Amino acid sequence: MLGPPVTVGPSMTTIGFIGSGHIGSQLARKAIESGYDVVLSNSRGPETLTALIAELGPRARAATAVEAAAAADIAVVTIPFKAYLEVPVEPLAGKVVIDTNNYYFERDGRFAAIDEGAQTSSGLLQAHLASSRVVKAFNGIQAADITADAHPAGDPARRGLPIAGDDPEAKATVAALLDQFGFDAVDAGSLADSWRFQRDMPAYGAKATAEGMREKLAAAVR
Ligand SMILES: NC(=O)c1ccc[n+]([C@@H]2O[C@H](COP(=O)([O-])OP(=O)(O)OC[C@H]3O[C@@H](n4cnc5c(N)ncnc54)[C@H](OP(=O)(O)O)[C@@H]3O)[C@@H](O)[C@H]2O)c1
Repeated sequence: MLGPPVTVGPSMTTIGFIGSGHIGSQLARKAIESGYDVVLSNSRGPETLTALIAELGPRARAATAVEAAAAADIAVVTIPFKAYLEVPVEPLAGKVVIDTNNYYFERDGRFAAIDEGAQTSSGLLQAHLASSRVVKAFNGIQAADITADAHPAGDPARRGLPIAGDDPEAKATVAALLDQFGFDAVDAGSLADSWRFQRDMPAYGAKATAEGMREKLAAAVR
C-alpha cells in the first residue's frame, strides 16, 4: 500500500485524470491555474478532448486512461461510479488516487454492499485499486464552485471540504493540494467513514467553513 511520498507543488507534479467531464475539467482548470501539468482522459479517446486541451494550454495533454494513469504523480478518478472497475490498476500502483465519485443508484445501478452499509463507493474503488492509496475528495462540491468559490487561506469565505482515506500520508498530500486550490481539507476519517459525506448527508454539497463542515460530519446518521 505504501509508495513514495509525493511533494505537491507547481512544476513538480503531473495530475492525471481518469474522467474529464464536469468535475475532471474543472479540477484540471484549477490545477493549471495552480501551475501543475495535467493529462486528461475519458472513455471515448483523446481526440474527443481537443477543445478542452486547447482551452487549457500547453501544460495539458490528452491521452488514454492507461496513459493518463501512467503519467500521473497524483491521479484523479472522476467518472460515473458504475465504471469504477474499468479504472486501470497497474499504472496507478503506489500512487495517490483522488476519488471524486458518488454513488447514485438511479445512474449507477444497485450495489448491494453500499445499500446495506457494508461498503462505501470509495472502499470499493480502493479494493479495485488495491496497490494505490485512495483519498475521497471533491465529491460534494458543485463543479462550477471549484473555480468560482475558491479562496485564499484565512479568508472567512474559505470553504472546508471533507476528505477521507486509509493512508495518512496520502491524505496529507491531498490536503496540501486542496490548500493550493483554495479550500481547507477537513479530515473525515477512513474510507469506511466516508459515508458521512455521501449523498443525503448534511455535509454533502454543504457550503461551510472547516468548522461548519466538522459539525455537519458529526451530525451524519447512517
Ligand atoms: N457534477 C458535479 O458537480 C459533481 C460534483 C461532485 C462529484 N461528482 C461525481 O464525480 C464523478 C464525475 O462527475 P461529472 O459530473 O464530472 O461526470 P461527467 O460530466 O458525466 O463526466 C464523466 C467523465 O468520465 C468519463 N468516463 C466514463 N467512463 C469512463 C471510463 N470507463 N474510463 C475513463 N473515463 C470514463 C467520461 O468520458 P466520456 O464522456 O468519453 O464517456 C467523462 O469524461 C461522478 O461520480 C459524480 O457523481 C460530480
